[in-house]
Amino acid sequence: MMRRLTVRQLHRWLSLVFLAAVLANTVVVLRGGYNNQLGSLAVAPLLVLLVTGLYLFVQPYVAKRRAP
Ligand code: HEM
Repeated sequence: MMRRLTVRQLHRWLSLVFLAAVLANTVVVLRGGYNNQLGSLAVAPLLVLLVTGLYLFVQPYVAKRRAP
């Protein structure tokens, strides 16, 4: 229960970090520049979002199997 809340909080806050990174990437690309470090700035939180998101997704099904 507590772990699920922590993972949900992490997912929620990382969504803002990811949003900021996407905006930064958009601005830089529109100005005609791009570099891989900036791209990684968005990809890193996205990977954690993917893992935490998949955890949140399977959680209800796992809980249902444990307590039918
Ligand atoms: C990359 C793959 C992702 C997967 C598999 C995923 C999956 C999920 C799942 C299963 C939930 C819980 C839904 C529920 O039952 O309430 C969730 C919540 C949420 N996701 Fe994602 N997500 C992903 C990426 C993202 C991204 C890119 C964003 C935004 C930038 C995002 C923002 C959120 C937010 C704000 C919530 C609500 C969290 C809360 O309860 O406060 N997710 N996501």
